[in-house]
Amino acid sequence: MIKVAIMGYGTIGSGVYEVLETNREVLARAAGQELEVKYVLDLHDFPGTWVESKIVHDFDVICRDPEVKIVVETMGGLEPAYSFVKACLEAGKHVATSNKALVAAYGTELLAIAREKKVNFLFEASVGGGIPIIRPLYRCLVGEKIQEITGILNGTTNFILTKMDKEGASFQWALKEAQALGYAERNPEADVEGHDTCRKIAILTAMATGKEVNYEEIPTEGITKITDVDFKYADAMGTSIKLVGSARVECGKVYAWVAPLMIGKDHPLYGVSDVYNGILVKGNMVGTTMYYGSGAGKLPTASAVVADLVESAKHLDSNIPIGWSSEKQAIASADEAAYRFFVRVSGTYEDRRYMVEAAFGKCRVVELKDMDEFAFLTGPMKRSEFLENLEILKVELTAEYQKVLQVIRAE
Ligand code: HSE
Repeated sequence: MIKVAIMGYGTIGSGVYEVLETNREVLARAAGQELEVKYVLDLHDFPGTWVESKIVHDFDVICRDPEVKIVVETMGGLEPAYSFVKACLEAGKHVATSNKALVAAYGTELLAIAREKKVNFLFEASVGGGIPIIRPLYRCLVGEKIQEITGILNGTTNFILTKMDKEGASFQWALKEAQALGYAERNPEADVEGHDTCRKIAILTAMATGKEVNYEEIPTEGITKITDVDFKYADAMGTSIKLVGSARVECGKVYAWVAPLMIGKDHPLYGVSDVYNGILVKGNMVGTTMYYGSGAGKLPTASAVVADLVESAKHLDSNIPIGWSSEKQAIASADEAAYRFFVRVSGTYEDRRYMVEAAFGKCRVVELKDMDEFAFLTGPMKRSEFLENLEILKVELTAEYQKVLQVIRAE
């Protein structure tokens, strides 16, 4: 029997216990022996529940107990999660975490300690919740050169954008709905500003390149400026708008960014709606593969943590070579990557056709009924080139008291 400790008995931590109980036999078979929770570290006591007798408030009880072989970290945030995880690894304990902030910020150091101590630091649940994505990267796709990872990596923003798309909701209304349903936090900044997606794509990029990625170098744009009017155009064009994290390898350079992306119905991520996540991984031999499922939530995320528990239980005496080294992966300027761009402009197209064509050449134009504005979609071009042309257009528009209302990257 392997003794386990859970640090943080919130949504995910209690989910881990539920998965361990519900699938006890399956897990014992998979791990080769039973997994038993010896301690649960939390600030609360949970009187009258099963966990009451296992609760400890002092981390040292876990860290000093040689019987505890695997520790689950489901506290979230950087501190004390970082200090506790580091101490556990240094004490020769395996760690499984769902904490993407921790992995993105301290993954390099924690992976190195795990290697040195011949234990495992595993984080399947940190990206895509219950979707298998970390393990496919280090196992099934280990013989591939990864060329691209593009994903809808945040359930909350995908729920909000789906509401705007399918029900014509405003951003504010959809956000309130997401909060009422418990998807969005009271302070939704990490989700809606794209920070959560940024950390996740940083982890995936590091997994793909084998080098450390500084998430602060990834240009990140959230969804707060996306409006219901944008979705009216998207609908007219047969497209949708998704918050996407993307990393591409081109000519030896790695481009990574987080931004709303307009995608057509033929794009594999088009049908990924509500709180679901979808991740495309393109390898140089296998081509495009896709991973889909519940990117958040108690049991899906807990299931991924428990899978890491089993993985550690099967490798109690060895370090599974996963992750990345301390070598830095440079992130190339997103300005050099080529995309199409969706642009909304005030005024009528008829009077401004020559300005659009002078700046961008022939473009697909969309005009909606009873709107004193129009939109156009450029051909593929480098973002730097697009921004130069946009400046030309803006100067012309200003002379006519008109302006650019919106710009969204398009596939
Ligand atoms: N806030 C995250 C999301 C939770 O909405 O996807 C899972 O990481």
